[in-house]
Amino acid sequence: MSLKKIIIHPDPRLKKICDRVDGVSPELRKLATDMLETMYDAPGIGLAAPQVGVLERFFVMDVAAKESAPEPRVLINPRVTWASEDENAYEEGCLSIPGIYEEITRPASVRMAFSDLDGKEHEEEFEGLTATCVQHELDHLDGKLFVDYLSGIKRRMITAKMKKLKKERAREG
Ligand code: NI
Repeated sequence: MSLKKIIIHPDPRLKKICDRVDGVSPELRKLATDMLETMYDAPGIGLAAPQVGVLERFFVMDVAAKESAPEPRVLINPRVTWASEDENAYEEGCLSIPGIYEEITRPASVRMAFSDLDGKEHEEEFEGLTATCVQHELDHLDGKLFVDYLSGIKRRMITAKMKKLKKERAREG
């Protein structure tokens, strides 16, 4: 296992529509394991492939409470098959936009079809924080970040902050 470098916004790789995964390869398994490790290390509850520079349609997540056993998940080629009219607002963050948290409104529940690392197809309904997490991660696969839901002025301020952060990090080496 090895930690991956998480790409910080703004970056063209975070704006791309990712390609469908065509079969589960040993490389994909290894990458998913590395991404889970990277996510736990950060720490975060979700990480999408483009955030580590891989433009393919999958993400990892673990929304288990801190005090309970880990529940690592890998969702491949996810797509929303149903979304509730009810909405929910959560304060969202993103490992590609460190230190920024904003309230984002999304459907409160969604059903998602996806396949797992064994190539098995699933359809599952998600609610609460998990529903927010899967929608946030699926957005990444379509080149969309949570800041894209904010006003232009807020988004530009956050982007400027991230540019500054990247410059500082580059100076530190
Ligand atoms: Ni994110």
